[in-house]
Amino acid sequence: MSAPTIPTPPAPTGPAGSVHTLAGPTGPGGLASASPTVPVTIDGRHIEVPRGTSILDAAKQAGVRIPTLCHHPDLPDSGVCRVCVVEVSGQRLLQASCAYPITSPVDVKTHSPRIRQARRDVIDLMLSEHYGECRTCVRDGNCELQDLAIEYGSDRYRFGEKTEPTRRLEKFGPSVVLEMDKCVLCTRCVRTCAEIQGVHALTVVGRGDRTAISTFADLPLSEVVCINCGQCINRCPTGALTAVDVTDEVWAAIEDPTKHVVIQTAPAPRAAIGEEFGLEPGTPLTWQMNTALREIGFDKVFDTNFTADLTIIEEGTELLLRLYKNLVLGDSSQPVPQFTSCSPGWVKFIEHSYPEYLPNMSTCKSPQQMFGALIKTWYAARNGLDPANVVSVALMPCVAKKFEAGRPEMTASGHADVDYVLTARELATMTRQHGLSLPDMPPSDFDDPFGTASGSGVIFGTTGGVMEAALRTVLELVTGQAVENIFDHADITPVRGFDDARIAELTLPDVVGPVPPLLAHLVPNWDWLRGVTVKVGVAHGTANARKVMEDIKAGGPFSECHFIEFMACPGGCLGGGGQPIPTNLEIRKARARAIYAEDAAYGDQGRARKSHENPAVVRLYGELLTDGPGGRISHHLLHTHYTARGTYIDAVGAARAEIKEGAPC
Ligand code: SF4
Ligand code: SF4
Ligand code: SF4
Ligand code: FES
Repeated sequence: MSAPTIPTPPAPTGPAGSVHTLAGPTGPGGLASASPTVPVTIDGRHIEVPRGTSILDAAKQAGVRIPTLCHHPDLPDSGVCRVCVVEVSGQRLLQASCAYPITSPVDVKTHSPRIRQARRDVIDLMLSEHYGECRTCVRDGNCELQDLAIEYGSDRYRFGEKTEPTRRLEKFGPSVVLEMDKCVLCTRCVRTCAEIQGVHALTVVGRGDRTAISTFADLPLSEVVCINCGQCINRCPTGALTAVDVTDEVWAAIEDPTKHVVIQTAPAPRAAIGEEFGLEPGTPLTWQMNTALREIGFDKVFDTNFTADLTIIEEGTELLLRLYKNLVLGDSSQPVPQFTSCSPGWVKFIEHSYPEYLPNMSTCKSPQQMFGALIKTWYAARNGLDPANVVSVALMPCVAKKFEAGRPEMTASGHADVDYVLTARELATMTRQHGLSLPDMPPSDFDDPFGTASGSGVIFGTTGGVMEAALRTVLELVTGQAVENIFDHADITPVRGFDDARIAELTLPDVVGPVPPLLAHLVPNWDWLRGVTVKVGVAHGTANARKVMEDIKAGGPFSECHFIEFMACPGGCLGGGGQPIPTNLEIRKARARAIYAEDAAYGDQGRARKSHENPAVVRLYGELLTDGPGGRISHHLLHTHYTARGTYIDAVGAARAEIKEGAPC
């Protein structure tokens, strides 16, 4: 009896696939309309701008720089800091240029004596409320308040000086530290959390000199809906928000002769860490970093892309099996679409906001945690090491991974599988502390047995990368054809790009290959996938994830997808909360170009570009994961489960219900 087939949606319009995006604006700055235009004069320069353009943007267009503080190119403007004030013809008061849309012809002055004095007053007032010594601040040399103070000659405290801390310093959560004494109340963090991440964990509380950044009921971030993404840190202009720093702990482990200290390195930091050393965004330092890590004292330097490849094998198998069970056998316990699970910020987001969809999550651990489990078990045993003396460090673009490493279920080895997570910024600090200039290090390769990876592992670092890697493998496994026959150079471009949330449709050819021996006990054949149109979705930034989830709930186009990639951070991991500061769309695009270039270079160098071709992964299935992908051993080491957490709204609702129940009638 032949297996029933998946109903095939309409074929795509392009040669190999097509793309749709969610309707609506694709980013901040939606004020400007295409026409008509308005003439504007800025410091005597005449230009024409679309009606609704802010004075700040018009000035930029005219080549005039206006200083800013609460403005950030990723965010809608709030106009709270008044640093960007300008004189506008017809207006008695100075106007905030970032929040002034041009609707009629105006004459603007941006640097008159009156303006300079006003800016100086604003900056001096902020400094009078500021306690923090630049020389001990992690943002020294990369702080927008410090830059403004220098630019406006604030060399003394005209309005008073704080000589001791008056606000609390808190470890705000497992990943984020808040130092209110350094906060300028610009609200960039609040807007980031609400507008980019759709989480709404942060708010402004209090009045006057008690105004502060806080959370619902002033709870620590660990007790609210915060997903530990660190996006607020990346957009904070000062040292008020920083990531939990573990460099001292890692140095201590390196200096302890009883410890064997290994580090795995994710793809995104390599494309960005050069920015910490003054290089242009998108200058990769993969091979120089390996040498620096050995000089710093790590005993082994491994490539997280190895377990990215492993993730593709496990997650791809899970997807095929889920589709077969759900769509062919009618088993609804395996709901479709399957969601990716490698972004810990996204995992916590769905645990809080959409726990009813947890069965859609792939059970695969993230590549970081798969790596940790392998290091403390198989690697330790092969090398005669006591796992208690193996210190497993991960270099990540991400502060959510600090939280993930501490999740109680991440102990497959009987120990914490990952002991410390360093961000790209922390590694840059350690490199400098060791007297090294990263860009000048000679290149060197990763160490075996986890030093071999494919180009598919590399592209995990960008939005759409996990999906592309999965499709490269699934298409080859199912059709038995080289993916290059379907997409030039195996570049699955329909899933690439920076659109907020997108759907791509790919029609499989009418030919199928044999089921590989490792999967033969799971699926009888691929006939049910002949000529099928596969629908996949990609979303980055959890505000976009929320849009997709609401679309799914409403039975919209995303509910028809078979597989959806979710990344918590804008741009994917390359825009992670542990990456160099600043961040903006151009910087993220430059990092993505570096990642795709490294993937392409793998092909040029004769290295594998598809996860299933990674010889080290094939060997692992031969030596350790002998019952195959999704088997008992891999389930123990490489898969996990999730926790439905709910939101404080749920908590308030439950408390109200309790009060009602107990209330006298
Ligand atoms: S870490 Fe992310 S979720 Fe948490 S407060 Fe910051 S932006 Fe919001
Ligand atoms: S914590 Fe940072 S981003 Fe948030 S309001 Fe303060 S200075 Fe601005
Ligand atoms: S997208 Fe990447 S950097 Fe951001 S939370 Fe997920 S894993 Fe971390
Ligand atoms: S940058 Fe315009 S008001 Fe702050």
